[in-house]
Amino acid sequence: QFSMMMNLQVEWKTVTKLCHTKPVLTVNGKYPGPTIAVNEGDNVQVIITNRVARNTTIHWHGVRQLTTGWADGPAYITQCPIGGGKTYTYNFTVVDQRGTLWWHAHFSWQRASVYGAFIIYPRLPYPFSPPIHNDFTIIFGEWWNGNVEVIENEMMLYGGGPNSSDAYTINGSPGPLYPCSIKDTFIQTVEAGQTYLVRIINAALNDELFFAVANHNITVVEIDAVYTKAFTTSAIMITPGQTTNVLLTADQIPDSTGMFVMAARPYLTSVFPFDNSTTIGFLKYKSTKNSKPPMPPYTLPKNLPALEDTLFATQFSNNLRSLGTIDYPCRVPQKIDKRVITTISLNLQDCPVNQTCKGYLNKRFYASMNNQSFVRPSISVLEAHYRNLKTAFSSDFPEKPPHAFNYTGVDPVTENMNTEFGTRVLEVAFGTKLEIVLQDTNFLNPENHPIHVHGHNFFIVGRGYGNFDAKKDPKGYNLVDPPERNTVAVPMGGWAAIRINADNPGVWFIHCHLEEHTSWGLAMGFIVKSGKLPSQCLLPPPSDMPPC
Ligand code: C2O
Repeated sequence: QFSMMMNLQVEWKTVTKLCHTKPVLTVNGKYPGPTIAVNEGDNVQVIITNRVARNTTIHWHGVRQLTTGWADGPAYITQCPIGGGKTYTYNFTVVDQRGTLWWHAHFSWQRASVYGAFIIYPRLPYPFSPPIHNDFTIIFGEWWNGNVEVIENEMMLYGGGPNSSDAYTINGSPGPLYPCSIKDTFIQTVEAGQTYLVRIINAALNDELFFAVANHNITVVEIDAVYTKAFTTSAIMITPGQTTNVLLTADQIPDSTGMFVMAARPYLTSVFPFDNSTTIGFLKYKSTKNSKPPMPPYTLPKNLPALEDTLFATQFSNNLRSLGTIDYPCRVPQKIDKRVITTISLNLQDCPVNQTCKGYLNKRFYASMNNQSFVRPSISVLEAHYRNLKTAFSSDFPEKPPHAFNYTGVDPVTENMNTEFGTRVLEVAFGTKLEIVLQDTNFLNPENHPIHVHGHNFFIVGRGYGNFDAKKDPKGYNLVDPPERNTVAVPMGGWAAIRINADNPGVWFIHCHLEEHTSWGLAMGFIVKSGKLPSQCLLPPPSDMPPC
């Protein structure tokens, strides 16, 4: 087995975007951070040195971390943060996974700038055609002119939605539709006639995005590092946390600029002041001499879906299917041992006396699953579980909603006042075949929630609008080739049913990948107990685990 070792430093770096200069938290001074590329089966050891006076952690989003939960990264779930001046080595092996994932800070809102691609080169040849000439990566992010720590703190203090970002970015560049950004534009060169594997990652904090390249169709071949049946589309939808690999063939005839616009903008603008601007970059055909972006005006790709194009979003999701071949079988559990139904909601709480609140109706926002707003304990849940310290959490996450839910949400106030704060986790035996039905209650905020599960992939066996019906809806499940991934967009005013093979002992975070919702408590813990065989047991903690 090959071991791959690398040293990364978390450090400040002065960055200018949109004519605003500010110190930004980075890895190795890069924004976005460096790409980490490994081979399937590699042992990876990343030594993180924290050179800032802040706590931090790094999460390997989508890496399964089989038996190595100590290397997963979410603060107070699997580890205590790495303090200023301290070092921690994330040591894990990439087992039976290949494709595009990513890494990001998992402390506060640090992932606003601390993120990068994590690429796993496959052992076997790609199961798709035509052969690819090369690959490149597109990571979407968000830029705030203001200080992200201040924005996060204000959001928690006043209980309102955060300031929306000032720009979306492609590989850190906002592109020429934003002020001062003509020179700060992503340009990718391609050769006419060649096919490229494009690794697309949504690292934005709070928005689902549509993405399209003018005049070019693209073919989806992989999602969240799992191959799919290839399907050709004019655009994609991608939620925060998700990755999508597509094939792009440079088969068009460019105009005199030699360039085609690529663009990303949000799916939903919602009722709150969301950023509904557009980031663009260019696909440059090699034959052209221009190396600068063309002059304005810019025409957005005709194939870019409009804001709130739910029909496109739904059809796109419905087209995703596991590849399901002999080399890459679809291991969806056919029978389940347990079904948990949980609401995913935004909630309102009374404003503390002598305080101003900016949520809604003079109250403050919280968010919850089954009306439990998740509170991170002061030691890591994983450590508490490993040492049998049952005081840090309780294993009694409710397996059913506390009241009859109704997605139409006629009464946002009374039903939501009794959100409980605590650290209640769902605990299952090793090997449990678990189904979780995620029911959006849509009391307040009409938007999709991208729910991410750590330590496991899951199969999306069903999705629908309205209230989940336990008698009727399971009859329509896809148990043949459902998409397998680590982050699912639960349709607004609807539900998604996911099946998990609980085969990874440890403590895992399940949460909304819209960062504001995680901050408000839209999260839960999920414990898988160790099994009987040594390979089914959580390894002991590494000796350099940061103390609390
Ligand atoms: Cu990408 Cu818990 O997150």
